[in-house]
Amino acid sequence: MSMLSGQPILILREGSSRNKGKDAQRNNIQAAKVVANIVKSALGPKGMDKMLVDTMGDVTITSDGATILKEMDIQHPAAKMMVEVAKTMDDEVGDGTTSVVVFAGRLLEKAEELLDKNVHPTIIVEGYRKAADKALELFDEISISVKPTDKSMLMKIAKTSMASKIVREDRDYLADLAVDAILKVAAKRGKEYIVDLDDVEVEKKAGASLVETKLIEGMAIDKEVVHTGMPKRVDNAKIALLDCALEIKKTEFDAKIQIESPEQIQAFLDEEERMLRIMVDKISSSGANVLICQKGIDDLVQYFLAKKGILAIRRAKKSSMEKLAKATGAQIVSTVDELSGKELGKAKLVEERKIGDDKWVFIEGCENPKAVTILVRGGTEKIVDEAERSLHDALCVIRDVVQKSKVVAGGGAPEMEVASRLKKWAEGLSGRVQLAALDFAEAMEVIPMTLADNAGLDPIDILVELRSRHDKGDRWAGVDVFGGKVEDMAELNIYDPLVVKEQIIKSASESACMILRIDDVIASGKSSAPPMPPGGPGGGMPPGMPGGY
Ligand SMILES: Nc1ncnc2c1ncn2[C@@H]1O[C@H](COP(=O)(O)OP(=O)(O)OP(=O)(O)O)[C@@H](O)[C@H]1O
Ligand SMILES: [Mg+2]
Repeated sequence: MSMLSGQPILILREGSSRNKGKDAQRNNIQAAKVVANIVKSALGPKGMDKMLVDTMGDVTITSDGATILKEMDIQHPAAKMMVEVAKTMDDEVGDGTTSVVVFAGRLLEKAEELLDKNVHPTIIVEGYRKAADKALELFDEISISVKPTDKSMLMKIAKTSMASKIVREDRDYLADLAVDAILKVAAKRGKEYIVDLDDVEVEKKAGASLVETKLIEGMAIDKEVVHTGMPKRVDNAKIALLDCALEIKKTEFDAKIQIESPEQIQAFLDEEERMLRIMVDKISSSGANVLICQKGIDDLVQYFLAKKGILAIRRAKKSSMEKLAKATGAQIVSTVDELSGKELGKAKLVEERKIGDDKWVFIEGCENPKAVTILVRGGTEKIVDEAERSLHDALCVIRDVVQKSKVVAGGGAPEMEVASRLKKWAEGLSGRVQLAALDFAEAMEVIPMTLADNAGLDPIDILVELRSRHDKGDRWAGVDVFGGKVEDMAELNIYDPLVVKEQIIKSASESACMILRIDDVIASGKSSAPPMPPGGPGGGMPPGMPGGY
């Protein structure tokens, strides 16, 4: 008699779980919807903030979708995919992380209804894909082209992105800084502009008010001047950047020097001193009056530098060195012998200042800096952290528009307009694909509806009014969350970059389709570090396991 007859054949390791067909789909959709529901209430200026507590007890307060999801310890694989979508959004365009998750959740909710009507997942995926392509085309069609360096438009874009953040009270002030920073580092390539966000350093320090946040045309370094005898302020600075240590090199191998008399010790020390003095002379004769060193500086060298009136900083970060080079026009050199004078960078002022309890060195007034710094201040650590995140969003959207200069009004208006046009287009499709495409269009309405809901308005009333306004050709009719009614969003100066809207469509539809196409979830039961079996190491094997190795 065969032992296997009637028994399932196990191909998976014991403890693995498997979830198939409709069950798998429903389970994944549920998980994604849960994630969407968590971030939903954070959408828009009237959205709520979240307080997140990590395993160490550290608290983060934020309304930033990507941050909320990043700080949550999410286990479910489909839910994790939603976290990934938010992260992609953040990496690609920097804003819209809440919208993308909310929209993807809505797409899946709509898909669930279609699945209930026995529409096959591949048909839904096909309809969604077609609709997404068309939506991209329509967004482009309704967008407004602007000048890449149109400061007033960039301000509107930055202010809209900060309207939904804790720092919104001070958004005029912060938007102005952010726009200036991006315009300073934007590089023209032919007719276009390229912005590398790495060129805008954001430093933060709690202890003052948000409006004391400053744009520095240069850098602020969290280091103090190394020697008390050095000047604390140098005007018209000529700056040397050195990435080697200023000391006598220790030999690689142990060498013993036989010293037989006190004179020999003295001669040895004299020689060391002479070499260090030559080093400092070389620096000084290059014309440098400020020295920034990535490595250490010998005490004696510090003393000699101080005597020459040179301000020096040691152990600057490599990234700071690179940005300093961009900001001041200096070249980083690797030995003092390379210093001839033309490697030096320039700044109007280098000064050590007290920031809170620390001393920082400011390198300011660089001519035509290719890297700048925003020093974020704020009452508490939490505020400074959230201000930094908000500023990050603002810098991203400004960059988005400088690089691709098309915008749409916000407040759910473009979603309504595209949805309305999409519905007309979908009528040309046939069969069940049409159902899916129509659902895609309706899913887009979740953005204005959520904005309304979060503002305490009735989402259905607002939706009805929005639909009729858009039917009448009122392209920018959206949700005025402060006025509590439907308004022309362009008139309220609420604008978002086109690329953010495009990325929301692309990322949300891709992830929804990916989740829909999964009909089998096979989860390995063993994590890489299996829990100890009872009885500690070497204890009994779990039942059913083959013999140990
Ligand atoms: N004053 C306003 N009235 C109505 N809607 C607004 C206003 N200001 C911004 N919005 C809209 O709020 C939405 C953005 O909200 P929010 O910034 O909370 O989410 P997100 O950009 O999707 O994600 P995140 O900023 O967390 O990455 C956009 O649709 C934007 O047009
Ligand atoms: Mg935003």
